[in-house]
Amino acid sequence: MNVADYAVQVFTNKGAVAHAAAEVFVNLAPQPGGSRRPFRVALAGGETPQAFYERLASAECRHRVAWEQVSFFFGDERAVPPDHPDSNYRMAHGALFRPLDISGENVYRMKADMPDLEAAAADYERELHTAFEGERVPHFDMILLGMGPDGHTASLFPGSPALAECRRLVVPVTDAPKPPPRRLTLTVPVLNAARLVLFMATGADKAQALREVLKGTASPDQYPAKHVRPGPERLAWLVDEAAGGAL
Ligand code: 6PG
Repeated sequence: MNVADYAVQVFTNKGAVAHAAAEVFVNLAPQPGGSRRPFRVALAGGETPQAFYERLASAECRHRVAWEQVSFFFGDERAVPPDHPDSNYRMAHGALFRPLDISGENVYRMKADMPDLEAAAADYERELHTAFEGERVPHFDMILLGMGPDGHTASLFPGSPALAECRRLVVPVTDAPKPPPRRLTLTVPVLNAARLVLFMATGADKAQALREVLKGTASPDQYPAKHVRPGPERLAWLVDEAAGGAL
């Protein structure tokens, strides 16, 4: 990955990363009284984004976005009910959707709790085709991603056959090394079609993977975040000093 493909900014701590991510979002999203364009974003899972979602719902940010024009999707979801502590939807609902009173019509939950994960993947793919007016590959305005200590992103894990998927938009995962093992995930082509991919990575446990992803020579199949290459000026990394310490 050469330098022109991405910008990486290092911040003092997790809170500063969350604030910076909120500023990127607010400056990209439709503003009150501005154009009526839709803004479609895929949210990241895990714990890192929570402070970012809470910042967006804060008094300092909430009035700077025309929320009725924003549609929320998910980059991945665990195969648990929407009210389960492991649910990415549950975290986003508590930190963002409920405080901002986001209409349910603007939230596209991945129904990974369906017994048949293949059917759930097909179901979400249909929702994407409808929401993106039949675009073969949906072009999200923004995709938020995290990264695990092994370099995984969304639910694309090292060595997974899902990394080679180039036709489907959404696939099931049944052997994720990060519990729970069963998940749904967007595929690499969808991530790379985004107008902007914003990674957030914090914590010293991410430092080795981050160095490998941004500067190393290992295969992207070993460090799946390395597969995310939407193109020049369409990829940004916001990291704290602990995660960026090896760069
Ligand atoms: C998930 C996430 C996953 C996450 C990373 C980082 O559902 O687990 O999509 O890709 O972003 O594992 O997780 P933390 O933010 O909790 O470190």
